[in-house]
Amino acid sequence: WPSLCAALAIGYLLGSIPFGIILTRLSGGPDLRSIGSGNIGATNVLRTGNKKLAALTLAGDMLKGTAAVLLGAYLVGGKSAALLAGFGAFLGHLFPVWLRFRGGKGVATYLGILIGLKWPIAVTFAAIWLSVAYLSRYSSVSALLASLLAPFLLWFWAHEYQMAAVMALLTVLLWCMHRENIARLLGGREGKIGQKD
Ligand code: G3P
Repeated sequence: WPSLCAALAIGYLLGSIPFGIILTRLSGGPDLRSIGSGNIGATNVLRTGNKKLAALTLAGDMLKGTAAVLLGAYLVGGKSAALLAGFGAFLGHLFPVWLRFRGGKGVATYLGILIGLKWPIAVTFAAIWLSVAYLSRYSSVSALLASLLAPFLLWFWAHEYQMAAVMALLTVLLWCMHRENIARLLGGREGKIGQKD
């Protein structure tokens, strides 16, 4: 138990690094929470017009999820530790202590965790995200659909039942964090990718 708690804590600390906030602040940009959707993720960084910074935010938020899974497996050992560290990273991104527990929506970190757990499923997740984004131009729709399918892919394709269950829990959290996006989509008010407001 102590080592599993350590895996969760390491994951949480890594996940709570808010790359979007740090990078935009370092580059002299606005506070992400006061522009666009108010979210701290790459999609909202893109609304500042800085594509490079958005790409770096995506990379940072993603890789902290991957790093958590790999560190959990390496330091503590076993699939459960890797899963717990990934779960911790997701919680850290969504509820970072440094931002009074008001973090992001978890899409990039979800992908990063999948990379660490089962890369073919991560590639499929990215392919679904990109296809839906290309067709719809909505970042949120892409994330909602890709995250809905990921647990099924883990269950029926990879036969990773424990992973599928944990990722299903992450999908539920991801959908909850997108409740304002869902309301905007239903009301026809959701901004498309790159759209400033
Ligand atoms: O990555 C989060 C995305 O799905 C939606 O972002 O800024 O449009 O709420 P945003």
